Order: sequence, then C-alpha cells, then structure tokens
Amino acid sequence: MKKLIAAAAAVVTTATFSALVQAEVPMDKYNKSCAICHAAGTAGAPKTHDVAAWKPRLEKGDAKMLESIHNGFNAMPPKGMCFDCNDEDYKALIDFMSTAAK
Ligand code: HEC
Repeated sequence: MKKLIAAAAAVVTTATFSALVQAEVPMDKYNKSCAICHAAGTAGAPKTHDVAAWKPRLEKGDAKMLESIHNGFNAMPPKGMCFDCNDEDYKALIDFMSTAAK
C-alpha cells in the first residue's frame, strides 16, 4: 500500500512540474499580436519556429527578452502590442515562437 501511495505521489509531482514548465501558449494572444510580425518576419522580426533566428536572442537571457518586450526593441513595439499579456504569457509565447513547430 505504501508503495502505491509513493507511486501515485510521484505521478502527481511529475504532472504538476510539467504543467509549470510548459505553460499553456495563449494562442488567441499570439494571433492578435505577435503573429502580425513574427509569423512572416515583418520588419526583421525573428520568424516563428525559426530556431536559428531565435538562438542569439535567447542567449541574451529571459530577463533581457522580457525587457525588450516591455520597453519595445527597435521596430518591435512596447509590449509586442499585447496589452493583456502577463510575463507568463510572454514566456510561453517566446518558447512557442523560438522552438520548431510541433
Ligand atoms: C509590430 C511588429 C511586432 C509585433 C506585433 C511583435 N513583435 Fe516581437 N519583434 C518585432 C521585431 C521587428 C523584432 C526584431 C527587432 C530587432 O532585432 O531589431 C522583434 C523581436 C522580438 C524579440 C527579441 C528581442 C530581443 O531583444 O532580441 C522578442 C522576445 C519578441 N519580439 C517577442 C514578441 C512577442 C512575445 C510578441 C507578442 C506579444 C511580439 N514580439 C510582437 C516585431 C514585432
């Protein structure tokens, strides 16, 4: 019985952990904001799912990525034009755009 409880606890822990790591991508927010530029690479935006284009940007670190979004960065408007996005949304959106299509 003890073993069963331990196994169940392990399953729950793993499930919670992956839920935290893979925050739900807010596709509605992506479509009405980021996609406008990042889907086609408009104005030099790193294209969605173009892993190589995103690599040097990601290397600047999460904090810098969020700062670029909040303040704007060259042709990228402040907040990426998503005014109801929070930092969790931004992180999920960056992850979505910077990795290969699933
Ligand atoms: C109006 C067009 C536009 C929209 C909308 C937009 N971006 Fe961008 N984004 C850009 C451009 C252009 C760049 C590249 C700027 C440069 O490197 O000069 C960029 C760069 C970035 C970068 C890299 C910043 C850096 O420091 O290298 C991140 C992260 C990013 N965008 C996230 C987002 C997210 C998340 C959204 C949606 C919430 C979004 N963008 C919406 C145009 C846009």
